[in-house]
Amino acid sequence: MAIVGSGSAIPETTLTNDQLSHMVETSDEWIRTRTGIQERHLNVPGDTLSELAAKAGRRAMAMARLNPHDLDLIILATSTPDDLFGSAAQVQAHLDAPQAAAFDLTAACSGFVFGLVTAAQFIRTGVYRNILLIGADVLSRWVDWSDRTTCVLFGDGAGAVVLEASPDQDDLLGFSLQTDGSLNPHLNLDFRGWGQTLTEQINADFGNFKTITMNGREVYRFAVAQVPKVILKTLKESDRTVDDIDWLILHQANQRIMAAVAERLELPPEKVISNVAHYGNTSAASIPLALDEAVRAGQIQPGQTVVISGFGAGLSWGAALWRWRGAG
Ligand code: UT7
Repeated sequence: MAIVGSGSAIPETTLTNDQLSHMVETSDEWIRTRTGIQERHLNVPGDTLSELAAKAGRRAMAMARLNPHDLDLIILATSTPDDLFGSAAQVQAHLDAPQAAAFDLTAACSGFVFGLVTAAQFIRTGVYRNILLIGADVLSRWVDWSDRTTCVLFGDGAGAVVLEASPDQDDLLGFSLQTDGSLNPHLNLDFRGWGQTLTEQINADFGNFKTITMNGREVYRFAVAQVPKVILKTLKESDRTVDDIDWLILHQANQRIMAAVAERLELPPEKVISNVAHYGNTSAASIPLALDEAVRAGQIQPGQTVVISGFGAGLSWGAALWRWRGAG
């Protein structure tokens, strides 16, 4: 399989650290030094996740010169659908891709890595030829804007890649996916049910979702310990070393996490791609958004190897090593 196009989309509205400092007890200085974030982009009422995702998808298909009518499958990695039944079908309608099956994949901030590996299996088995993988999230919908420990971190966005069958070469060189559900309390967006009485005997569950809850220190420790390990495992299983990495794109959660992971891997910091300053943590969108910017800026060149690693709620984490083919 080959990765032949990328695209991204972000909402127009921005929220700066200074603006946040008028909402909660925080400061630009605290947010910058602890996270590297300067601003984030937010969807506003009337904006939808599916439109944002479709915009990124359209740009990826334009780069890949792929007609939407030739798409076989759309995978939408998201935790914030417009519709709890899934938003991939709405994306398919926006894109006018009538032949494509479409489904949502939920693995929080690891969603793009899990999605890439899933898409590759459909291509490797020969079932599908052209797949659009989109990572998109609007976590701003689920943030408690009075909680300074979480509200400064997140932003909205979407990124996408086109994968296609390639007879001569498989550009996914290795991957490793991991989950530890026992750590779920460290980061979640739980259902809150209060029930409704149906009959004298039956009280059915009924409710909605809470806001994002995170133990930042625990997730930080987890990320810095586990991400280097899963990257090294991926490299080892594909008979490669850190020296073979041209670019590292980590889930854009915190600049300090990226620096710490690079240091543990003994990877030169200039190989680490980061745009967290301008978007904050955009969950499943963060890796493809950073990828697309780096491709369009001419940083990532055809034939170069990229390691991506996502980590977050679940807890789930994973890494994939692949070669960027580009549109050719
Ligand atoms: O996408 C999923 C993955 N998520 C992550 O990777 C997030 C991982 N965690 C982190 O990035 C960091 O833990 C945070 C950025 C969330 C927090 O940074 P930290 O250096 O771990 O800070 P802390 O939680 O240890 O808090 C230090 C202090 C505390 O005050 P005390 O207890 O020392 O008096 C907090 O109450 O900073 C305080 N604090 C703040 N102060 C100003 C927490 N949030 C803020 C804030 N502004 N926004």
